Amino acid sequence: MKVIWGNEIVDRNKVTIDFEDRGYQFGDGVYEVISFYNRTYFCMEEHIDRFFSSAKKIEMRMPLSKSELKELITDLLNESEATDGYIYIQMTRGNASPRDHSYPSQDVVPLLTGSIAAAERDTDKLKKGIKTTLEEDIRWLRCDIKMISLLGNIMLKHEAHKKNADEAILHRGNIVTECSSSNVAMVKDGAIYTHPDGNLILPGITKIVWKACAEQLNIPVYERPFTTEELLEADEVFCSSTTKEVMPVNQIDDKVFELPESGSLIRLLQSCYEKKVV
Ligand code: PDD
Repeated sequence: MKVIWGNEIVDRNKVTIDFEDRGYQFGDGVYEVISFYNRTYFCMEEHIDRFFSSAKKIEMRMPLSKSELKELITDLLNESEATDGYIYIQMTRGNASPRDHSYPSQDVVPLLTGSIAAAERDTDKLKKGIKTTLEEDIRWLRCDIKMISLLGNIMLKHEAHKKNADEAILHRGNIVTECSSSNVAMVKDGAIYTHPDGNLILPGITKIVWKACAEQLNIPVYERPFTTEELLEADEVFCSSTTKEVMPVNQIDDKVFELPESGSLIRLLQSCYEKKVV
């Protein structure tokens, strides 16, 4: 299997990462997940822009340009035989021994790695929806950075899994923010509501796509905070992410949501999304 390591594509078994790499020691790094459909990356520009913007937010100097990165990830896809799937890329701040919390000098070169996974669209779940739980959002206050230190998200996803659910819908106090690895939105009386971008959520690329679909379909979208009570009273709820696409929620804790029928807002968004990717 071929992977990206530094600025080249190598066999996975050639890769050696120093145990003092700051990604390994501190979780000091940023990442992206980009889907490809029929061997073409979806929203590559937007993901690469967000990758660079996350790096900038943590003052990490990127050792390659956006176009060099595009070339590398395109070359890696060409090495793979997968038709559909996603690429995972991450940039850590590199190896700066001895261990010290402060940012190292700019001579320390950040380290890029990347790999491709074949994955089929989960058409069964896209039809039937997923079970979720409500969990207190215990993460920090810079959730806008797509960083590799994901312990908060992992612990929350694990809470959901312990309750046989696929995803955790997070709330700070009674305000719904996002999910452990996706954004969340609700439909009420023909309009869509979702938390505004800012420091409490990741600005999702999939959200940009479904918002464009909503605009095309003349469905109003309100980006404003809403409460857990409003969520539980919603007509429909969905999560969105690169790997989940527009994913209906069929249950939140004990509350069961009717599966959206054809013509429901979720189904309209799903078919618009599907036209863009397949
Ligand atoms: N997760 N919020 C969080 C906390 C996420 O981890 C993600 C994505 C999203 C949705 O972002 P996008 O639509 O750009 O994928 C929102 C990715 C897929 C992951 O960590 O695997």
